Amino acid sequence: MSQKSIILDGKKVADDIKDEIAQEVEILVSGGGKRPHLAAILVGDDGASQTYVNNKIRACKRVGFEYTLLNFPETISENKLMSEIERINADDDVDGLIVQLPLPEHISSSKVTERIMPEKDVDGFTNLNYGKITSKNPGLMPATPYGIVELLKRYDIDILGKHCVMVGNSRTVGAPMSIIMSYHENATVTVCHIHTKNLEEHTKKADILIVATGKPGLIKGDMVKEGVIVVDVGITRITTDENDRGYYLKGDVEFEEVEPKASYITPVPGGVGPMTIASLLLNTLKASKNRAQLKQA
Ligand code: GUN
Repeated sequence: MSQKSIILDGKKVADDIKDEIAQEVEILVSGGGKRPHLAAILVGDDGASQTYVNNKIRACKRVGFEYTLLNFPETISENKLMSEIERINADDDVDGLIVQLPLPEHISSSKVTERIMPEKDVDGFTNLNYGKITSKNPGLMPATPYGIVELLKRYDIDILGKHCVMVGNSRTVGAPMSIIMSYHENATVTVCHIHTKNLEEHTKKADILIVATGKPGLIKGDMVKEGVIVVDVGITRITTDENDRGYYLKGDVEFEEVEPKASYITPVPGGVGPMTIASLLLNTLKASKNRAQLKQA
């Protein structure tokens, strides 16, 4: 009979981090410092993206950041979007800039992301910030991987020497996560993805299993070993007529099957999602302090 697993409560930890940031902002501002300012760009009217951006704006309000939300129509041209990014890059009051992804098909996400100045890239998506992951003095870290490591640390989970199996090799999560776990946290890392043969042979060996594929319920109970630590990055809207919203959220892990075998596991929602937002706030605070320091120098 296995022990009950511990739920990695990302919402609670993110709330703690927000309280810490709010305190720091108060001290900063009362000492005559600048209030950190995040700008967010949303293109189109996709419901999920709207929700994510609104959550980010709500988090800014809670910690006392300034915020600017720019919502452009789906039809905005790539050139116009680029010039808006240039304008915000040049706005001395703005410390952090995010462009919510995905973008419409006629706009190149990579070109747009790359136009954000690295010092304001609080999602940590630019090539420079990715490159700096493999520095002992990194730039702004990609928000989701940074949030996951912080969540594990706040539960005193020892990562060093553990076998971490990363399922997913995306630019936003899987690829940087695997580097952070091996380079910074000294885990032994296996990276799996949609072309991996016999996925369960790998997932069964995981001490720490991180899943970011966007395939709801991909990881079943018989694909993990007893005592595994599970981090589920997936968050897919599944249509239902059983609630007023018309959908529910499902992760990449079949929670009911995997939870009884896990020692620790993140819920969906309330696990990784809130931690990504907490990381975004931490990065914005860091960007703001870095910029203030540069001005003094
Ligand atoms: N779309 C899905 N996740 C993210 C994220 O972390 N940042 C941005 N900008 N867009 C996203």
